[in-house]
Amino acid sequence: MRKMRTQSAPWRAAAVLASVLLVGGVAACGNSDTGGGGSKDDGKITMGFSQVGAESGWRTANTTSIKDAAAAAGIELKFDDAQQKQENQIKAIRNYIQQKVDVIAFSPVVESGWDTVLKEAKDADIPVILTDRSVDSADKSLYKTFLGSDFVKEGRLAGEWLVEQKKTASGPVNIVELQGNTGAAPANDRKKGFAEAIAANPNLKVIASQPGDFTRAGGKQVMEQFLKANPKIDVLFAHNDDMGLGALEAITAAGKVPGKDITIITVDAVKDGMQALADGKFNFIAECSPLLGPQLMDLAKKVHAGEQVAPRIETEETTFTQAQAKEALPNRKY
Ligand code: AHR
Repeated sequence: MRKMRTQSAPWRAAAVLASVLLVGGVAACGNSDTGGGGSKDDGKITMGFSQVGAESGWRTANTTSIKDAAAAAGIELKFDDAQQKQENQIKAIRNYIQQKVDVIAFSPVVESGWDTVLKEAKDADIPVILTDRSVDSADKSLYKTFLGSDFVKEGRLAGEWLVEQKKTASGPVNIVELQGNTGAAPANDRKKGFAEAIAANPNLKVIASQPGDFTRAGGKQVMEQFLKANPKIDVLFAHNDDMGLGALEAITAAGKVPGKDITIITVDAVKDGMQALADGKFNFIAECSPLLGPQLMDLAKKVHAGEQVAPRIETEETTFTQAQAKEALPNRKY
């Protein structure tokens, strides 16, 4: 539990002596740091983690990675599932501050609106690590580091692949886009990166773009609307595999062949997505790795020890074509 970084060695020695002499009397009154605040310096790190939810295969793999890595690193993990709600994340973070955890980590459901609670954590001297998604706070001192993917790059890679595929297209190529939840960093950034890349070919046009909330159900429902409203859809860009998988059902139900009548590009490369790619139903995936747990625990140990860490740590990722998915699938971990 909590280690007070402001205590000097003589102060600690005096505190130890006092507690020995008083045979627990002071602690019983609850006015020492170890007794009253519920925190004790037993050398064990406690991390409070607020997860976005369980909206996708990616998220499930991410949660498993964090829980497994905490257990392997000997870090006590307090875990909260915010069920896609920012107010739940803020509540969880405030609880962690009250409990005086050593480190707070979280994956923000949306980018904006975190300054107040981050300031509360800073005032309580609890370091915060952003993982997977970042925040748009101007004050970078409110968190120690951001560990996660470059979402703009993922969108750009998806767009660049499409530009290459359609370089000989003589007429308009109609694209529909399934965005992640409104205000989320991966939704904003993937949209941006994709738009930047396809601007290279004026034939490539996004004719409809709606949030599908990163879920299969959302992807299916919004794709149904797209298909009803647009007689000619050539390409689907889904901001994650799950929405792409949901859209497959809508496309098949509309009598079209996914991967052939409609080119499908997604992001993540979780097993189900990779299977759809290997089966020829998807055409291209930009990878987003959910295996952030081990790096997160290393960072927690470092910030707890007062070490400097890089303000931005980017996840290593690749892309997959159908042939590459077939090759990679047998060894895919998630
Ligand atoms: O923040 C990462 C994104 O969130 C993943 O691409 C998506 O599947 C998840 O829900």
